[in-house]
Amino acid sequence: MDLNGKHIVLGLTGGVACYKAAYLCRLLVKEGAEVQVVMTEAAAQFITPVTMQALSNRTVYVSQWDAREPNNMAHINLSREADAILVAPASADFMAKLLHGRADDLLSLMCLARPVERVALLLAPAMNREMWAHPATQRNVTQLRADGAQVLGVGEGDQACGETGDGRMLEPEELLQDLIAHFQPQVLTGRRVLISAGPTFEAIDPVRGITNLSSGKMGFALARAARDAGAQVTLVAGPVNLGGPRGVRRINVRSALDMDAACRAQADQADVFIATAAVADWRPASAKTQKIKKHGGGQLPSLSFVENPDILAAIAASERARSGALYCVGFAAESQDLEAQATAKRLRKGVPLLVGNIGPATFGQDDNALLLIDAQGTLEMPRNSKQALARMLVAEIAKRLPVPGVA
Ligand code: C5P
Repeated sequence: MDLNGKHIVLGLTGGVACYKAAYLCRLLVKEGAEVQVVMTEAAAQFITPVTMQALSNRTVYVSQWDAREPNNMAHINLSREADAILVAPASADFMAKLLHGRADDLLSLMCLARPVERVALLLAPAMNREMWAHPATQRNVTQLRADGAQVLGVGEGDQACGETGDGRMLEPEELLQDLIAHFQPQVLTGRRVLISAGPTFEAIDPVRGITNLSSGKMGFALARAARDAGAQVTLVAGPVNLGGPRGVRRINVRSALDMDAACRAQADQADVFIATAAVADWRPASAKTQKIKKHGGGQLPSLSFVENPDILAAIAASERARSGALYCVGFAAESQDLEAQATAKRLRKGVPLLVGNIGPATFGQDDNALLLIDAQGTLEMPRNSKQALARMLVAEIAKRLPVPGVA
């Protein structure tokens, strides 16, 4: 659970998006966070404190005059306990108030009283598109950022008022992801990471083809982990059934040749290349433009194959990779003798780091176990969720990168 042990103050201000804050609260609790809900009086017009209390499992605070705190200083007590204050939804009015350092209700008091260097303030604005676009709101957002707040969003689309445009609060899952990202060590800040993921599909004719068993989950988890660690991430994805990841530039491809072209084009601007894709080794020598007909009677089509390019080996042999400007990481899915096979594959591919896993034990699953192999030796990462492993792997990769500016 990515928020285990974190104390989050979830602030709600007046807006119809309060109904989504209920679900957000649930997601935060499920991810292991202790959630203290603080609502403004306006928020309590949209959703009751009772609902938020039931979801957070804690009494909700609305007023700065609440006498439950022994010292009657809820704004101090609650903001000292917090690791972050997330205001979702953050109304235009509430942001205008924060900007001026006004503190006439409990939530704005807490935002002002929080120790800024230790307790982050994250704002998820929600409002009508005209209110969002208004120069006053835009000015406030710019200044709030400059004052150290992190502004999440906004989203775009249908609004409760019937209009369409910018100003929607981000979806609860998106806010959860951004909050989790906020707590990750920023070990890849300023780095550009290229990742290949998923299978490739090699057409035989317009309705048939050959492919590999790969869900793309490990590559997508790595893309998210690298982005959360501060990297600028480009994900070249074969045909997979996965959305996102958030904040990652995604290039969709189908065949090995498409993936090869996309990766080579992007590799020039990358500092790290992580090849997780299960690239088909061969493709039909020529894809038929019309569907091959079944004639029956034991008559079989004959197919001949040609070899696909080895994307990783080619990029690892490039000038930039050999000079150390591009750090290449390969994956090996084996069915047995993992260490020996993966060690040999690292040398064959010419990469500094190779990550082995037992293929059939991980295909399509949400967890995995990894064996990292580099010139220094091996490092085992026992069975864990692919997301947790991805975060650990990103940390290991970051340790191995050359320090910028040091030859
Ligand atoms: O040779 P093998 O397919 O086992 O190698 C696996 C590693 O090489 C993975 O990192 C995979 O993404 C990469 N690869 C590639 N292009 C290929 C075949 C594999 O980039 N044509």
